[in-house]
Amino acid sequence: MRKPLVMGNWKLNGTKESVTSLVKALIEPAAQATNVEVAVCAPTIFIGLVEDLAKGTEINYGSEDCDVHTSGAFTGENSPVMIKEFGCKYAIVGHSERRQYHNETNEVVAAKFKAAQEADLIPVLCIGESLAQFEANQTTEVCKTQLQAVIDLCGIKAFEKAVIAYEPIWAIGTGKTATPEIAQNVHAQIRAYLASFDKDVAAKVQILYGGSCNAKTAPELFAQEDIDGGLVGGASLKPADFAAIINAAN
Ligand code: PGA
Repeated sequence: MRKPLVMGNWKLNGTKESVTSLVKALIEPAAQATNVEVAVCAPTIFIGLVEDLAKGTEINYGSEDCDVHTSGAFTGENSPVMIKEFGCKYAIVGHSERRQYHNETNEVVAAKFKAAQEADLIPVLCIGESLAQFEANQTTEVCKTQLQAVIDLCGIKAFEKAVIAYEPIWAIGTGKTATPEIAQNVHAQIRAYLASFDKDVAAKVQILYGGSCNAKTAPELFAQEDIDGGLVGGASLKPADFAAIINAAN
């Protein structure tokens, strides 16, 4: 049985004040949702604050990215080892916004995945196709290629300690959620592809859906066999909405 995971991705949002009230508002919903794991991924500068606020609660947390290096002359980067030191459990890698705005290739993302695991973080590998690729029926191919780069570098067993987030780029921040049927179909294909390497790993890995996942769309999405929770952007900034999504997974 795969435990559902509902993870917020705050992106570049928040203030010390809003982060404090948001985490405080999530303590109760996270404690009540005993069948679901709750996590938030915060801008790096707020991770220390989240660490303090989440202490002794059921809220797990992570970073939105990490560097491939652990230390050295890499101005502005965030080391996975440092991220781990602040109590993070997760590090998102390969978010489409990183791929798009920071030109992160599949190879760079795979290296980040590896660096995160070496620092004892659980990488949350984001994959997904653009609108043009979706319309050209290339979704499966794109997802396989993105997975393959990680399999090539880290091996299939690396997915024993990783999470996958399928996030169709055309659904991120657009209000256009993939239908439960479309999402389930892609999730099943992702799992089948992993199963072609290792059935056991494929059966156990959590595959989250992301892309305009909200209080309204979450229940039907989470009811799908191969959808193990969500990676939630916009709605994770609103405590009531995020709590409703947590409930839907519970
Ligand atoms: P969204 O973002 O929920 O705002 O669409 C999801 C994500 O980018 O992880």
